[in-house]
Amino acid sequence: MTFSSAGGRPRLPLWVFFGVAAGAALVTFVVTALLTNIFEKKVEASNGTPRIVAVTGQDINDAELWGQTYPLEYDGFKATATFTPTNHADALVPVTGPRQAVVDQLGYDPETRTETAESKIEADPRLVTLWSGYAFSLDYRHARGHEWMLTDQRMTLRVLLRDQPGTCLNCHASTVALYEELGDGDTMAGFDVMNAMSYNDVTQLATHPIQCIDCHDPTTMKLRITRPALINGLKALKASEGILDYDVNRDATTQEMRSYVCAQCHVEYYFTSDTKTLTFPWANGLDLDQVFAYYNEIGFTDYTNATSGAQVLKAQHPDFETWSAGVHAANGVTCADCHMSYQRVGNQKIANHQIADPLANVNATCGVCHTASDQVILDRVETIQNRFIQSRDRALDATVALINDIAAAQAAGVDADRIALAQKFQNQAAFYVDYAYSENSYGFHAPDYMAKILTESLDAARKGQLALLGQTEAELAPSDVAEANLEKIVVTGKI
Ligand code: HEC
Ligand code: HEC
Ligand code: HEC
Ligand code: HEC
Ligand code: HEC
Repeated sequence: MTFSSAGGRPRLPLWVFFGVAAGAALVTFVVTALLTNIFEKKVEASNGTPRIVAVTGQDINDAELWGQTYPLEYDGFKATATFTPTNHADALVPVTGPRQAVVDQLGYDPETRTETAESKIEADPRLVTLWSGYAFSLDYRHARGHEWMLTDQRMTLRVLLRDQPGTCLNCHASTVALYEELGDGDTMAGFDVMNAMSYNDVTQLATHPIQCIDCHDPTTMKLRITRPALINGLKALKASEGILDYDVNRDATTQEMRSYVCAQCHVEYYFTSDTKTLTFPWANGLDLDQVFAYYNEIGFTDYTNATSGAQVLKAQHPDFETWSAGVHAANGVTCADCHMSYQRVGNQKIANHQIADPLANVNATCGVCHTASDQVILDRVETIQNRFIQSRDRALDATVALINDIAAAQAAGVDADRIALAQKFQNQAAFYVDYAYSENSYGFHAPDYMAKILTESLDAARKGQLALLGQTEAELAPSDVAEANLEKIVVTGKI
């Protein structure tokens, strides 16, 4: 059917047109009002409450209070305590050794206190060499549900056996009340106070893992950013794009917020050396090459590798940055679309608050946009992840070989200049492969981007080994063709 004004239909007087239009509007209004009323009644009947109601009360920092108004979201939220397997973490394991003592001391429920997520360093001892001397070489595990974030942090040997700053709590506890308390009502001031305190002092003040209030405004129920590190990080990122004075809570779209609430924590970060302020390294941009350049410009490294003596960076869960570089982000598909997909409960459509593995229900999640069968989709993810693991393993083997070669070269008295250059390449090889390793989707969030990162890691490891054999930085520079191609990419700005 086409809409054309050139038809031979006779023209009616104007009053007929307006009369009909007004009549139609009235009918529409009545019908809509009736339907809305029926809909509201149905919704109310299904759980006794209309959808958006402000939450108030003394226990506003406790999800339980919110659960009285929003029981369905609360059920999902509580379910984050239940373990859900992923493609690469299929079970919990018993808590043993020094960790058991702490669990006993904290008096956890006997049903749950004996288990924790599987160890990644036991499964892959190469990581111990990669991080030799650093706290991560003591204990590093798979992630599990949000309900465990505070417990698991308190129980890790990284905290039990090493001093940590209060900064760690920014992403492992409900902090809205904490910031206010420490800053006398001023969140930003509270953030500074918290970062300057010791872990042990802050953890005593922390009462809950993440709660509703950490993602929602209790009055409007709108998503909001409560973490100063993300507010500052996005301000720096936007400034690098020429947007000055960006305020995420004022300027972000609803759609962007569906990823930004997660970016409060699921990002690469560092603590400034002097004040231990939680900072996201985004002043040059989100791309790993820009992040690495940023760290080099400010002269920051996290620790000295005990095997090779190199000063190196440690990467941590860059889930948001990696997603940003992928095809889903480019199409406006957010974290919540996959990890909190809508589900129907009775007459309501709600966001699944058991934030977990999207593959647990492929049809309800991926099936919203992809028409292939569940099995085809699952196979596709597995293929992406398997290819990722093959590349990652080669890059990590090469990085570990470089670390051991540097140690051997030092023992053999090789020239200090060669060692220094090899250590510089180790920093890049290690940081890049670590970035890919600690990103939690095994390549799925952005497969081609991960392939590039692992190639760069592998290349840096190769160059480090050649540096030990005497090649100079100039000899190891990219070819003219590679350099020219890189410039073209920088000019188009599309990475
Ligand atoms: C910017 C936010 C952020 C900060 C700061 C942070 N974490 Fe985490 N942490 C996370 C996220 C997100 C995860 C889940 C993803 C993962 O395991 O990679 C996590 C996972 C963990 C885990 C469970 C998995 C593992 O690594 O064994 C432990 C334990 C942990 N963090 C300890 C710490 C300690 C100790 C500090 C301070 C040195 C800290 N975290 C600081 C965000 C943060
Ligand atoms: C306050 C910080 C914080 C925020 C905000 C946050 N996370 Fe997490 N997330 C964590 C930590 C910490 C863990 C690891 C907990 C553990 O292992 O004990 C985690 C674990 C996870 C897991 C693993 C769950 C499992 O069952 O294995 C997923 C998936 C996840 N987060 C996704 C998200 C998404 C999606 C969002 C946004 C809607 C989000 N997170 C917001 C800190 C956060
Ligand atoms: C297009 C869908 C999709 C989007 C969008 C997406 N993810 Fe994922 N995510 C996945 C899949 C698939 C996996 C791999 C699950 C597996 O291996 O079983 C995953 C894995 C994860 C994990 C590890 C889960 C675990 O239990 O260890 C975390 C954490 C995570 N994503 C966080 C995020 C965050 C944060 C965002 C937004 C910045 C995001 N994801 C966007 C599909 C998505
Ligand atoms: C990690 C962040 C996070 C936490 C914690 C969180 N939510 Fe949400 N919530 C979301 C996201 C994302 C949406 C989807 C919002 C959108 O589409 O605009 C949402 C949506 C909602 C909605 C709108 C209706 C719906 O289900 O889509 C309600 C109501 C809600 N949440 C209640 C709660 C309650 C109650 C809690 C605590 C028990 C809670 N949320 C905890 C992120 C969170
Ligand atoms: C809200 C819509 C939406 C959801 C939900 C969604 N996708 Fe996608 N997906 C897209 C779009 C759009 C593309 C871009 C390609 C296209 O235009 O078809 C895409 C592309 C892909 C690709 C090709 C990736 C690449 O790098 O080229 C894979 C694989 C994929 N999706 C898997 C999944 C899986 C698995 C899930 C569920 C965990 C999922 N998607 C959920 C919209 C979605």
